[in-house]
Amino acid sequence: MNHCSFCGKSELHVNRLIAGPRNVFICDECVRMCQEILEGERRAAREPRTPNTSPTPLVPRTIYKHLSEYIVGQEAAKRVLSVAVYNHYKRIEHKARFADTEVAKSNVLLIGPTGSGKTYLAQTLAKLLDVPFCIADATALTEAGYVGEDVETILVRLVQAAGGDIRRAQRGIVYIDEIDKIARKSADNPSITRDVSGEGVQQALLKIIEGSLVYVPRDGERKHPQAEMLQIDTTDILFICGGTFEGLTKIIAERLGIRRNLTLPLYGPNRPAPQRPADLLRHVIQDDLIRYGFIPELVGRLPVVVTLDPLDRDALVEVLVRPRNALVKQYQRLLSLDGVELVFTEEALHAVAEEALERGSGARALRAIIERVLLDVMYEVPSRRDIRRVVVDALAARAQAAPKLYDQHGRLIGGQVDRAA
Ligand SMILES: Nc1ncnc2c1ncn2[C@@H]1O[C@H](COP(=O)(O)OP(=O)(O)OP(=O)(O)O)[C@@H](O)[C@H]1O
Ligand SMILES: [Mg+2]
Repeated sequence: MNHCSFCGKSELHVNRLIAGPRNVFICDECVRMCQEILEGERRAAREPRTPNTSPTPLVPRTIYKHLSEYIVGQEAAKRVLSVAVYNHYKRIEHKARFADTEVAKSNVLLIGPTGSGKTYLAQTLAKLLDVPFCIADATALTEAGYVGEDVETILVRLVQAAGGDIRRAQRGIVYIDEIDKIARKSADNPSITRDVSGEGVQQALLKIIEGSLVYVPRDGERKHPQAEMLQIDTTDILFICGGTFEGLTKIIAERLGIRRNLTLPLYGPNRPAPQRPADLLRHVIQDDLIRYGFIPELVGRLPVVVTLDPLDRDALVEVLVRPRNALVKQYQRLLSLDGVELVFTEEALHAVAEEALERGSGARALRAIIERVLLDVMYEVPSRRDIRRVVVDALAARAQAAPKLYDQHGRLIGGQVDRAA
């Protein structure tokens, strides 16, 4: 059988395979992709960027559209981020004109349950933007002088993302993940021992978020006398923070005077809407964050707060199949390299989503479940030339049977055996 020399797909899996000299083939899909590449280059050549104008900023709609290609649901978060990023560009572009009315930056705080897409949103945004962007993890941060990373290392990373160009780094965007982990451990009675990873870090973060001149060593190493120091002005750096803020719903409920059984997990099938803590999260105000253990100054520097919803069953099914690099598409692609077509039935997708819901870690669980479902198949397929089609049905998705294997004539050649039996 012939295969495309570019993507490796067999002639069974493409509409058309065109033969070239000396046993070289190309499929219709690769031809189309090459066409797009050439067309893109032609277009770029036709409209050269004039050197003195900066690239047209992406408008919020464009940013939103890009985010939506990868992220399911989370409409509020996608909109807020699109606007925040666009305003960030605009603010910097026209800084000179705004000289008399200084437009303050609007840093963003994302709050949402685990596996709902916070980090993924930031990563997807990073791919799109042509301003320096870096992602830092707040759990690794400690106050200067203690074991762990200084807050300043975030800026070192941003400079690296800007290819060493300080001026570009100064207009960059920083995403600080797991920000909730630097809340003061006990908000109501501050502990006597020094809290080096909590309030101290908040103070240090505050300094760079509110805009100041910060000195950082060029190589990112701990300050030592010989290290060359860089001076960075953080006034125009946009900060986006994200975290799960476990337990925050309790604080909100208390404030709202709601006494409900809030120990229920965030995820779960058939939970009536008003009882879900996630709905409470939408009522968050800055006071709640202060009670959660944040210093008021820091909360004040994060004026835009947006919450993400837990993904329900339908959303999880969508995560499996819809985004550009959806999980199911990834595995289909993997198996297609062995000339095998992978099919998930509708019921199988539902079963995978249900199990992810039960695990309570949002979309995070999906990959592990799919890996388990397909492990035997991925083990078997490379050494079996006869397998052409693999069908995962609900039983296979629930690990109650093996996926069904078919040969090129559509004959069932494996998987009919019930594993549970
Ligand atoms: N809304 C979504 N749309 C598409 N994929 C998603 C979505 N949410 C999560 N995912 C998938 O799940 C993975 C884990 O999500 P992510 O890392 O963004 O979780 P998180 O919200 O940051 O959770 P945590 O608070 O535990 O860090 C992502 O890499 C992505 O593949
Ligand atoms: Mg995360």
